Amino acid sequence: MEIIQKLIRRLLVLVTGLFLLMILTFFGVIYYDKLWEPAPQEIIVDWDSEIMVLNNPSVSEEVKQGYLLLSASSLHMGPLQHDPNLRFAGNNLSCTNCHLNGGTLSGAASWIGIVDRFPQFGGRANKNGTLTDRINGCMERSMNGKAFPKDAPQMKAMIAYMNWLDGGLPKLNTKNIKGYPKIEPPDVAVDLNKGKSIYTKECILCHGAEGQGIRYNEPKKGYQYPPLWGNDSFNDGAGMHRVLTAAAFIKNNMPYLQARWDNPKLTDEEAYHVAGYINSFSRPHKNNTADDYPDKKLKPVSTPYGPWTDSFSPKQHKYGPFPPIIQYYKETYGIEKTK
Ligand code: HEC
Ligand code: HEC
Repeated sequence: MEIIQKLIRRLLVLVTGLFLLMILTFFGVIYYDKLWEPAPQEIIVDWDSEIMVLNNPSVSEEVKQGYLLLSASSLHMGPLQHDPNLRFAGNNLSCTNCHLNGGTLSGAASWIGIVDRFPQFGGRANKNGTLTDRINGCMERSMNGKAFPKDAPQMKAMIAYMNWLDGGLPKLNTKNIKGYPKIEPPDVAVDLNKGKSIYTKECILCHGAEGQGIRYNEPKKGYQYPPLWGNDSFNDGAGMHRVLTAAAFIKNNMPYLQARWDNPKLTDEEAYHVAGYINSFSRPHKNNTADDYPDKKLKPVSTPYGPWTDSFSPKQHKYGPFPPIIQYYKETYGIEKTK
């Protein structure tokens, strides 16, 4: 009797063992690739323009020149450029004051992947625009200057740099986000008093009580902290002059070095009030903005200048509340607007 019991027990152990072996072999075959794939070696580094671009021997002179135009714009193409024929930007901002870390930072309208995204339809001109057109858009508005001719060597150099970003860069800690992650437009209008108190607490230290920014000590350099309004800022036709666009930039990037798209400091509503506040002051005027968006239905809802194809007041287009305008375009034209 005992012998038979022992035998059965041994047999059971054997069968279970075989069964487990079968299961192991089965999954082993299925996941063979995964098991033997080496762990990806993510070398994530911080942006460092000296190491990555300017002193990098594998980077061409044209790409370096492009980077200088984009990051020290005032000296190379703006008011600090000594040759008046080479002055195209009208203020002392740099492109990289808004497109942070040399245009590589996610959530700050990064230029990584930008070359492949153009030509692209743009509502402002109501046509398929090239990357050159888009850069010239920022030249005429954000930089309060004039457009480069299509074949200008400066334009070629800037685009060469953007091209290089897609191949030449070591792995940066970036996620490909087009533009800025959107904010939820609040149901209330901008409250300038709230905007002012947020500004005083979170921004004034760097951007100044008059929004004038802080220049470098050396007269040959532009701003350490760029201005947010006044004569030397972006003009009233710029994207940053739209409250929803500025709020999205601010929420995802400001206060500088304290906020990122994946770790913002301000709430949507705080960013919104402070965006309205900085855009409540005077700044350079862009001519002919009435011609923007030939198809007026495509105008972003917070474009503060007319004409519009709706009967909301100019004040509401500047300071909100925007949800009723967004609702109107959805119901009347079937257009889903996010900004
Ligand atoms: C610690 C300093 C600092 C603080 C605080 C700060 N900023 Fe900035 N801000 C900067 C710097 C520096 C840049 C340009 C970044 C660059 O060139 O890399 C910038 C850029 C900007 C820009 C785009 C460039 C321009 O001139 O229009 C806006 C808009 C802006 N900041 C708004 C704000 C707002 C609003 C706050 C408060 C919520 C704020 N910043 C807080 C340092 C600061
Ligand atoms: C005052 C801030 C500011 C400055 C300065 C600025 N830009 Fe922009 N730029 C913007 C904003 C805002 C957008 C639109 C972002 C959005 O809403 O997706 C934009 C968009 C762009 C785009 C298209 C991005 C995309 O993902 O489609 C390019 C390219 C660009 N800018 C290049 C430049 C260049 C080159 C310069 C300098 C000549 C410059 N910008 C200066 C604010 C600025």
